[in-house]
Amino acid sequence: MTAFLARMAGMTEMIWLNGEVVPMDQARISPEDRGFQFADGVYEVIRFYRGKPFTLKQHLARLEKSAGAIQIKLPLDLAALAGEINKVIALSKLQDGMVYLQLTRGVAPRNHIYSTGLKPTLLFHTRPLSAMPIPGEGEGVRLLSVQDERWKNCWIKSIALLPNILAKNAAVQAGFDEAVFIDDGIVTEGSSTNIFVVMGGKLITHPVGSKVLPGITRLVLLEMAPALGITVDEREFNEEEAQRADEMFITSTTRELSWVARWNDRYIGQGRCGNVTRRLHQAYQDRVRKEIAG
Ligand code: PDD
Repeated sequence: MTAFLARMAGMTEMIWLNGEVVPMDQARISPEDRGFQFADGVYEVIRFYRGKPFTLKQHLARLEKSAGAIQIKLPLDLAALAGEINKVIALSKLQDGMVYLQLTRGVAPRNHIYSTGLKPTLLFHTRPLSAMPIPGEGEGVRLLSVQDERWKNCWIKSIALLPNILAKNAAVQAGFDEAVFIDDGIVTEGSSTNIFVVMGGKLITHPVGSKVLPGITRLVLLEMAPALGITVDEREFNEEEAQRADEMFITSTTRELSWVARWNDRYIGQGRCGNVTRRLHQAYQDRVRKEIAG
């Protein structure tokens, strides 16, 4: 909800900024913040259901890793940060939504060289999200292949998302929903999602490493699959192989699992949502319910 809509509804959208909670439209960040000037920072997107964050620990562990990789020290320890995130969720009075969190190196006169003594800028705020449709209901996602022109540290959840933004917009402008990055024929991931295919009953996804973000949704699914009798194969696969897949779906914190109906000019699995996708989605929802209730 925009600050304007929030005010119309009698609510003020609040943001946690460097230790203070202020109305969104009064939050001030310096034009010399290195996040603004250099995209010198990292971020996280955390889902909450019924007012409770899902897989918060895993998201904060990934944040700490991303920040560490670029020599930014979190201004609070993870337990304190989790407490503050919970406070902001409670303050929003939202049941279902997401937390956007951004950490930058801080403010300094523009210079490529950074000083290690800078005070990082940390902010986070909530956004409402409605429940995702059950796979199989409604239309499947349409994917468009785009060359993967990103850097070789995709495991860092960097705020420098220009290649992702260009890829996603190219897909949407061509009538698709999401872009799939292709690196030398290999399917890496989506512009803001991880990609899974089902072939011969096996669940296949690109291994973690330098070429994909280690998605938390991806992680949860890979942990759950064996208990459902689904074999997991983390390996590279090429575009041609993937277009012959029996099933395909994309995952992210905000969209959970979305089944793929089309890729470029081809239907996947005759354009219907497959069984493995449905079962995994059901198991994911059960896992959410269990964690939120517990
Ligand atoms: N995107 N790959 C990329 C490039 C992503 O940006 C994301 C998440 C994922 C899925 O990760 P996870 O399951 O942890 O959300 C994979 C977030 C949601 C975003 O940028 O809004």
